[in-house]
Amino acid sequence: MTSEPLPITIKGTGSYAPEKVLTNDDISKLVDTSDEWILSRSGIKERRIAAKNETCSDMAAKAGLAAMKAANLSPEDIDLVIVATITPDKPFPSTACLTQHKLGLPNAVCFDIEAACSGFLFALETGVALVRSGNYRHALIIGSEKMSSIIDWTDRTTCVLFGDSAGAVIIGEGSIPGTGFLGANLSSDGASSDILHVPGGGSLIPPSADSVASGQHFLKMKGREVFKFAVRSMEQSAIDILKQYNFTTKQIDVVIPHQANLRIIELLSSKLELPMEKFFINLDRYGNTSSASIPLALDEAVQAKKIKSNDLILMLAFGGGLTWGSALIRWP
Ligand code: UT7
Repeated sequence: MTSEPLPITIKGTGSYAPEKVLTNDDISKLVDTSDEWILSRSGIKERRIAAKNETCSDMAAKAGLAAMKAANLSPEDIDLVIVATITPDKPFPSTACLTQHKLGLPNAVCFDIEAACSGFLFALETGVALVRSGNYRHALIIGSEKMSSIIDWTDRTTCVLFGDSAGAVIIGEGSIPGTGFLGANLSSDGASSDILHVPGGGSLIPPSADSVASGQHFLKMKGREVFKFAVRSMEQSAIDILKQYNFTTKQIDVVIPHQANLRIIELLSSKLELPMEKFFINLDRYGNTSSASIPLALDEAVQAKKIKSNDLILMLAFGGGLTWGSALIRWP
């Protein structure tokens, strides 16, 4: 007989978005595009851009501090920090270590997770497992991205889509059985890694004058292929996780999807027969913030009181890797 696992719940959420707003009209002054094209193809109206000297760990620390305040915890209480990011301050050390230092967390074990836009769900599942092990009490799970640092601002097929920001949650043991993190369903497939990637900067193409001149350090994407993969993978992941945990789509109260493209979300809504009103959407104001997108949307949904006690939340993500997945949370 297996005993009921400890409820691991979200104790607080926080987020941070840089001050600078870049509108579609602003981008149309950089490349051959228009507000009409960007809005109709993606649903994005504007995005935030970090200051030149503002780093991924700066944003992570601000979102993390907000989550710690919401959870009413002091720095000594945090014993694990996981940062999901594809735009770390440096190749190493980890952005989590740099964030730990900025927040002054003397007891925290820190490391990064890289699963592109699905990174937050991968970090959340990892954090839950470690807290459930009994070795850690409070984990700070952050998604933080300075996407503007890997965007080619002359490539209109990508530069219109992304933005900078950070979102965070604190997880820890809950007191109400059946609430909190119910489970995740994560997947990866390295076979199509080249439809969404940054080719250079690693051991394959180390930085060189040549790699910089040929734009190897910028994000490259085959948009249409990613679009099809996004719809297919998130639909299947939603179906699988609901089956695995014995829920129907009707029982879902709020969906927090990765905020990449409104048309992807609309297709998901119709395929899953889940009304659009259940999807929390803020991509119009932030664009695609990769691993920050789900915790940023979650925090905004909490602040806007769109999430009530006992609501069943479905999170859905897809990204480079390829990686994709879902998570179910019963809000405490
Ligand atoms: O977190 C994961 C990140 N990635 C994504 O979520 C991306 C998923 N893919 C998408 O969201 C969509 O594929 C895009 C928004 C990237 C593109 O939308 P689309 O409807 O698939 O457009 P398309 O790539 O088929 O391009 C249609 C046309 C092309 O012109 P032609 O060949 O038909 O003459 C493009 O050159 O639109 C042109 N185009 C643009 N025009 C104005 C591409 N980008 C732009 C632009 N402004 N920014």
